[in-house]
Amino acid sequence: MIAINGWLTVNNFVNSEKSNILRSMLVNAAEKCGISLTIKRTGELGVPIGGGFVGLPDFALFWDKDTHLAQRLEDSGLRLFNTARAIELCDNKVLTYMRLAQCGIPFPESYASPKAFSAINTDSCGFVSNAAKRLGLPFIIKEAYGSFGQQVHLAHSLDEAYAVIRSLGGREFVMQRFVKESCGRDVRINVVGGRVIASIYRYNDNDFRSNISNGGKMKEYRVSEAQEKLAVDACRALGLDFGGVDVLFDGDVPTVCEVNSNPHFKSTYDCSGVDMSLYIMEYIKERL
Ligand SMILES: Nc1ncnc2c1ncn2[C@@H]1O[C@H](COP(=O)(O)OP(=O)(O)O)[C@@H](O)[C@H]1O
Ligand SMILES: [Mg+2]
Repeated sequence: MIAINGWLTVNNFVNSEKSNILRSMLVNAAEKCGISLTIKRTGELGVPIGGGFVGLPDFALFWDKDTHLAQRLEDSGLRLFNTARAIELCDNKVLTYMRLAQCGIPFPESYASPKAFSAINTDSCGFVSNAAKRLGLPFIIKEAYGSFGQQVHLAHSLDEAYAVIRSLGGREFVMQRFVKESCGRDVRINVVGGRVIASIYRYNDNDFRSNISNGGKMKEYRVSEAQEKLAVDACRALGLDFGGVDVLFDGDVPTVCEVNSNPHFKSTYDCSGVDMSLYIMEYIKERL
C-alpha cells in the first residue's frame, strides 16, 4: 500500500526523449520505494503570487530551475528536493562560485562580468583585458546560465573574447582560467545525501568541453579521495540534497568546474550501471 505521495515537478516546455527517460526512471524508482510520484509540469501550478497551493503532496522532487516557483511552493510549506535556494545557487554559475569561495572550496580563478543593461560594446571592455592579463590566453568565457557546454567558450585572443562577449547581448558571464591539463576531460561525480554514489570520466578528443551531449565519451572511473571530498564538500556548501559535480584535473589538487542541481544521470547509468534515481528516492523516503 503506497502511503507517500510526491510530485516530480518538471519544466513546462522541455519534452525531449532524454528528459522523458529520466522522468520515467524517477517514477519507477519511487514506486520501488513505495512512493507515488506524480509528474507536474510547472505550467500546471498556476496560483496567484502570494496565494497558497492546495492539495499539496508530502514532498516535491523539483526537477527544474524555476526557482521562483520553487520558492513559492516552499512558502506554502512543501519540502522540496533540492531546495529552492540550492537550485538557485547552482543555476547561476556566478552565485555557485561565490558560495564555493565563501566555503574555501577550490575552483579556477574567475572574474564576474559587471552588470549590463544592454549588449556590451568593445569600448567598455577594459575589464576583459584586465582579466585576460591575470588569466592568460586562452581563457574561458562562461555564461552564468547554461548547460550541456553550449554557453561555454574558449577565447584564444582578446579579439575572440570581445566577439563572444558582444554576442551575449548583455547576459551575465564569468571569465575563468582555462585548466589546460583538463582540456576535453573531467569527472562527473554524483552525490546523494553527502555520499558519492557514482562517477564517470568524460573525454572529448575534438573539443575542450567534455559534455556527453556535445559529443564527449565516457569511461568508468574510480574517484580519488581528494576528488570525493571535493564533490561532497561542494554539495554541502551549496545545500544540495543531491547533485552532479564536474571536477577538473589541476595538478595534485582537483578543482570544481560547476555543480548541477538536476544532473542528467542517464549517462552515468549507461556507463556505470548505477541508478541515481533509486538513491534519490531512498534518501527522500528517509527524510520524510
Ligand atoms: N575552466 C575550465 N578549464 C578547462 N575546461 C573547462 C573549464 N570550464 C569548463 N570546462 C569544460 O567545459 C565543460 C562545460 O563547462 P561547465 O562549466 O560544466 O558548463 P555546463 O553547465 O555547460 O556543463 C566542462 O565539462 C569542461 O570539460
Ligand atoms: Mg557541466
